[in-house]
Amino acid sequence: MLTLILLCFCVCFLLAQFISRRPKNFPPGPTVLPFLGNVLSLSLENPLSDFERLRKTYGNVYSLYIGSKPAVIINGLKAMKEAMVTKATEFAGRPQDLYVNDTTQRKGVILADYGPSWKEHRRFALMTLRNFGLGKQSMEERILGETQYIMKTLEEHIGKTLSPQLMFHNVASNIICQVLFGRRYDYDDDFIKTIVQCFTENAKLANGPWAMLYDTFPMIRSLPLPFTKAFKNVATCQKIAKRVLAEHKRTRVNGEPRDFVDCYLEELEKRDDTTTFSEEQLSMYALDIHFAGTDTTSNTLLTGFLYLMTHPHIQERCQEEIDRVLEGKDHASFEDRNNMPYVQAVLHEVQRVANTVPLSVFHCATTDTELMGYSIPKGTMIIPNLTSVLHEEGQWKSSHGFNPENFLNDKEEFVKPEAFMPFSAGPRMCLGEGLARMELFLISVTLLRKFKFIWPEDAGKPDYTPVYGVTLTPKPYRMKIQLRERQ
Ligand code: HEM
Repeated sequence: MLTLILLCFCVCFLLAQFISRRPKNFPPGPTVLPFLGNVLSLSLENPLSDFERLRKTYGNVYSLYIGSKPAVIINGLKAMKEAMVTKATEFAGRPQDLYVNDTTQRKGVILADYGPSWKEHRRFALMTLRNFGLGKQSMEERILGETQYIMKTLEEHIGKTLSPQLMFHNVASNIICQVLFGRRYDYDDDFIKTIVQCFTENAKLANGPWAMLYDTFPMIRSLPLPFTKAFKNVATCQKIAKRVLAEHKRTRVNGEPRDFVDCYLEELEKRDDTTTFSEEQLSMYALDIHFAGTDTTSNTLLTGFLYLMTHPHIQERCQEEIDRVLEGKDHASFEDRNNMPYVQAVLHEVQRVANTVPLSVFHCATTDTELMGYSIPKGTMIIPNLTSVLHEEGQWKSSHGFNPENFLNDKEEFVKPEAFMPFSAGPRMCLGEGLARMELFLISVTLLRKFKFIWPEDAGKPDYTPVYGVTLTPKPYRMKIQLRERQ
């Protein structure tokens, strides 16, 4: 008997030694199991409700282990602001040893760690987007021009139903293609079809169960498991991107850049050996920006039209405001938003409920630092839970459901609460925010002015639960199209 007790004691002692311990003053969290970390505390399919459950137990800053790697989850406006804005650069890194880093070959801007390459490429993207018309009329013209193609699709479906997924992906993709490659592609062009399909698939793989297993168990990384699909998809897109780059190199004229790629090639020529610019960077960089600008904008539009169809009184009120402000005008311009407080409120509420990038892009501590009194060692992975801010009790008139009043004051003027953070905040904040906001406004207003969008009678009850991934996607749905009587 005594031997048995001693044996049990020894096993418990050994297990206790194995159980990973949190560093001193590290944020609290559930018990960490050897090898597995906290992977059993999370649904591999969709961990968002687990993150909320753990927030209720451990508070707004808590920790989890992905295998042996510690991660700190940041929730709520106060902690998010301290990390992303007040301590901006201390939290501006990106982890470098995840599935997503391996799939993108550590190139591009989105996943680049805080350092010279990220800084140079971010600055270049912001400057080039500006030069190619953001804030000027030329970007509006591109967006309105591309919207005409989907107007045509909608006209062909008057009185019928249509599945809008591909249509919204194509419009967002083509707008960014015009900036990057100086041209649009027909919607059945293999170029656009392949890129949109590969990256839509990768966005789901990147936050999915296989990515979590890849990150947790490094020994399985070379096995032929389903996560290899993302590598194949990136290779396919790289091949296409390289073809486009070769053509640009052949046809470009120095001093007369036609697009983002020409600007980069010109800049590359000017810079000396110390630059982080290179042709290898460029092909991934262009794909990076294409992906960042397509899946996000299109899923937000999809969510918007889902809610507008199922809240017809809100759709009608938008249309009344649009008719009034655009009376006598051929088309909307981005400036018109200042006279459309209700439409503005609706589009912001769409972004709040769409919660398109629910966990932002993971950050990483660039130095030993502190957050809400806890110590965070350099290199710790940081998961900014934007969902927790966009739905935080106390920050919104109504944090649940779909209510444009969240963005209107007593005088029915448009107001933007501080907790509106779908683009994140601080130095890593979305660099396409300006473009995205212009697209959401111009596309939505143009479509709502001409058409009425109806939830089909035979579609049953709408299901608002999104499909989880790096981006949240509404479940596939169909929309019925009618031409509006007035305009
Ligand atoms: C509704 C549309 C969009 C949403 C909700 C969105 C949201 C986000 C979020 C949450 C991040 C992560 C920020 C962080 O790490 O703190 C991000 C990063 C980024 N976004 Fe967007 N985005 C949208 C559209 C766009 C567009 C149109 C572009 C194209 C120009 C773009 C380009 C980028 C890039 C390049 C980054 C990485 C920035 C960096 O790491 O420095 N996004 N976006």
